[in-house]
Amino acid sequence: MKKQNIILIGFMGTGKTVTGRVLAERTGMELVDMDSMIEERAGRPISGIFATDGEAAFRILERKLVQELSGRTGLVISTGGGIVLNPDNIADFEKTGLVVCLTASPETIFQRLEKDTTRPLLSGDKKGQIGALLEKRKPLYDAIAHQINGDLLDPEERANAILNLYALES
Ligand code: S3P
Repeated sequence: MKKQNIILIGFMGTGKTVTGRVLAERTGMELVDMDSMIEERAGRPISGIFATDGEAAFRILERKLVQELSGRTGLVISTGGGIVLNPDNIADFEKTGLVVCLTASPETIFQRLEKDTTRPLLSGDKKGQIGALLEKRKPLYDAIAHQINGDLLDPEERANAILNLYALES
């Protein structure tokens, strides 16, 4: 079956949003950034949702949006890094899309997020939190069939690699 969407998975700071932008420009497909959409609909930033309602409430919003988006076509979807925590999210996305996991080393991720203040799961010892979360989630990211190592590739090159996969899967 033709894969109708392209879904970018990966830890925080692996370049999902910037790669998604390039893919959307190159294909003319619509870009959906899940975190931005959740924020828009909630009228609050992700950090505010975590602070007042808790992570579990955020995961429910995320899950509902996956269900909605996996029923649509023609989308490049940039997900939040925790999308892999619920295997149903990946199963739903696999049904209508090419699911690709972007990876990067802990050092690259730390460099990219060192000054970031928007991610509630990295609000303490950032280097330690990145290492611990990456280790815990590694099997979940590793389970995605298509992997693109973003350490050595710029967004254009990542998009090229993904478009090659997309052509092969279509
Ligand atoms: C999260 C990643 C974030 C955002 C939230 C939780 C995670 O998205 O969804 O802060 O659990 O890894 P990005 O991967 O776009 O930073």
